[in-house]
Amino acid sequence: MNDNFAREINYLRISVTDLCNLRCRYCMPEEGIDNKLSHKKILSLEEYARIVRVAARAGIRKVRLTGGEPLVRKNLVQLVKYIAEIPEIDDIAVTTNGILFPGVARELKEAGLNRINISLDSLKEERYEYITRMGSLHQAKLAVFKALELGLHPVKINTVVIKGFNDDEILDFARLAHEYPLHIRFIEFMPIGDLLFWKKERLMDADMIKAVIEKEFNLQMACDIQGNGPARYYQTAGGKGSIGFISPMSNHFCSRCNRIRMTADGMLRGCLYEKQEIDLKPALATGDEEEILRLINQAIKKKPARHHMNDGWGMENERKMYQIGG
Ligand code: 5AD
Ligand code: SF4
Repeated sequence: MNDNFAREINYLRISVTDLCNLRCRYCMPEEGIDNKLSHKKILSLEEYARIVRVAARAGIRKVRLTGGEPLVRKNLVQLVKYIAEIPEIDDIAVTTNGILFPGVARELKEAGLNRINISLDSLKEERYEYITRMGSLHQAKLAVFKALELGLHPVKINTVVIKGFNDDEILDFARLAHEYPLHIRFIEFMPIGDLLFWKKERLMDADMIKAVIEKEFNLQMACDIQGNGPARYYQTAGGKGSIGFISPMSNHFCSRCNRIRMTADGMLRGCLYEKQEIDLKPALATGDEEEILRLINQAIKKKPARHHMNDGWGMENERKMYQIGG
């Protein structure tokens, strides 16, 4: 289904929990979050499945499960199974920090998971521990190799580039994409999450990142990476993977946006950066699927033309990244 700006919306991202087993500095405070969604408000797996089934009638074909950390949600495998049973849905993905992934990878794949994005901001143990406050690089790397081994294609890595923290690792990540069939996506640091950590001076835009890579590699535009969302992808000559840039700050990709989002408590959002939400809970409570469909269509129609992240709007964003799902 098209929105009011002639964009075809076929992609639903569902945050299945606001909890996480890490505490990335730009995302969550050390003590965790104090405004956790209450258990009562969080939807059941069956409710998510019902919403996806209705969303498929509105034209949704791809679903991504996010968090917080989606793998801390109990029985996520069951949810993947439910979604895989919906004939119209042809792509199921998960965005994860990877820590819990090796333990459930095979089950997820067998349940119908197609692919995975793993967040990885540093390839240096101490730095990884610093930025995640409690993660183990070893575990995250195991997740990456497990995903490759299982043939979850393509395996994408999300790397938030933070000047003064990991900008000296850009080439190391690029080499990884050259040597392995991995799709490294460099993400511009956005003013969302723990705003005490975000600083303008820490932003490194995609052109600057690309310039660093081009010191060593000749980058060629690539356009056949599955799941082409907001990233612009390039390939290195003879490289096995690809290098992508997600540049919400320097280059609006909003005109190509194909997604809507839902929070763990059933609030639909047209945009990461849009305050307006549509509550699906009342319609779920009565089981009125026509009403759910109407609300999904409404969320699609109300999708804003573009985000306003650069206008200082972020300071007012009432929901955090771990609530909306990145
Ligand atoms: N800026 C850019 N990316 C972010 N992520 C979380 N917070 C931010 C931010 N402020 C990323 C995570 C993860 C994805 C879901 O979003 O690192 O890879
Ligand atoms: Fe967890 Fe992702 Fe936030 Fe890190 S960025 S604390 S992994 S939700």
